[in-house]
Amino acid sequence: MSTIQERETRYSTGIYAKREVTIVRGEGARLWDETGKEYIDCIGGIGVASVGHANAKVAAAIAEQARTLITCHELLYNDRRAELLEKLAQVTPPGLDRFFLCNSGTEAIEGALKFARMSTGKSGIVATMRGYHGRTLGSLSATWDPKSNEIFGPLPEGFKHVAYNKLDAIEEAIDDATAAVLLEIVQGEGGVRPGSAAYLQGVQKLCQERDVLLIVDEIQTGFGRTGAFFACEHYGLEPDILTMAKAMGGGVPMGAIAIGPRVQQIQRGMHSSTFGGNPLACAAACAVLDVMQTERLPERAAETGAYFLEQLKKIDSKQIREVRGLGLMIGMELRTKVGPALRDLMERGVLVAAAGTTVLRFLPPLVITPEDIDTVAAHVAEVVQA
Ligand SMILES: Cc1ncc(COP(=O)(O)O)c(C=O)c1O
Repeated sequence: MSTIQERETRYSTGIYAKREVTIVRGEGARLWDETGKEYIDCIGGIGVASVGHANAKVAAAIAEQARTLITCHELLYNDRRAELLEKLAQVTPPGLDRFFLCNSGTEAIEGALKFARMSTGKSGIVATMRGYHGRTLGSLSATWDPKSNEIFGPLPEGFKHVAYNKLDAIEEAIDDATAAVLLEIVQGEGGVRPGSAAYLQGVQKLCQERDVLLIVDEIQTGFGRTGAFFACEHYGLEPDILTMAKAMGGGVPMGAIAIGPRVQQIQRGMHSSTFGGNPLACAAACAVLDVMQTERLPERAAETGAYFLEQLKKIDSKQIREVRGLGLMIGMELRTKVGPALRDLMERGVLVAAAGTTVLRFLPPLVITPEDIDTVAAHVAEVVQA
């Protein structure tokens, strides 16, 4: 352990299982540790660093805004916030044109659940097994984590979990008390499991017929990750509420809840956030949106993601159970635990995340090159043969 690692270990809670590497610098899809060793980053801050590390335009926007105005509570108007809201309305699925700005994924989910309950006057939420929506108490109720209720319970009530990708299960679970159905387009933490078009479109139809709101959690899939600005676009979905965070601020903490016309009037004063919509995060997010559009990052994610998937699928190894994904959100399910493979890859200069115990999860910055993908695939091939 280096001294930096000892200091972090000494003064933090120990709640994270950390790898023995100290990252000090990044550029594009590369990271460097304190010894100067270079890594290809397929973790991307778990889907945050989509525009690439140390993106010059995002860095300049943050620096400029920091010199101008960092904080401005939403009880006052602000130029940067107005710019961001207008830009968001242009990239979100049709109908979603009002936003609540916040600071993280779980906070976006908390607000989405409150808005759904406030709008419908009902409390029931149908969520999915293996779904992940964050770790604060309300979000935990929606996250599929049976152990949490034992440790942190009682959690907020009214949540049902049904099998993902099974329309019948949602149909059966919706009842007169249901306010909303909440799901991911590709289950991320749950193992990189894409929903089928028939399922996702079926859920939307069902929600409309049964007068239930559809909340789509795009916290991991949003901002180009899956090869479209929002993954909803692949299936023509128009959810009533959409949550976003992660890549939104280019690494500056930021989240948002987008709401559509089926959500009734939000009552004034019933929700708030001191830091939500602060000019610094708004400036970062505006720059992220500009970079995504001018550098065609969603399109690039579609192209490089398809290439990456193909390279990983070509690997012939008995250790691999399945390779699946959408755009640059890719999972390789192994027949064994991923710990040793993650360590071997790190040793070889490739950083990869896990999703559960058996899935290698690749969430590189969307600027990753085909050459880097070739290098990663070659290392993965060797590691899963070993
Ligand atoms: C789909 C999804 N929802 C919610 C969250 C929670 O976001 P945060 O960690 O910012 O609270 C995550 C985080 O991984 C996520 O992937």
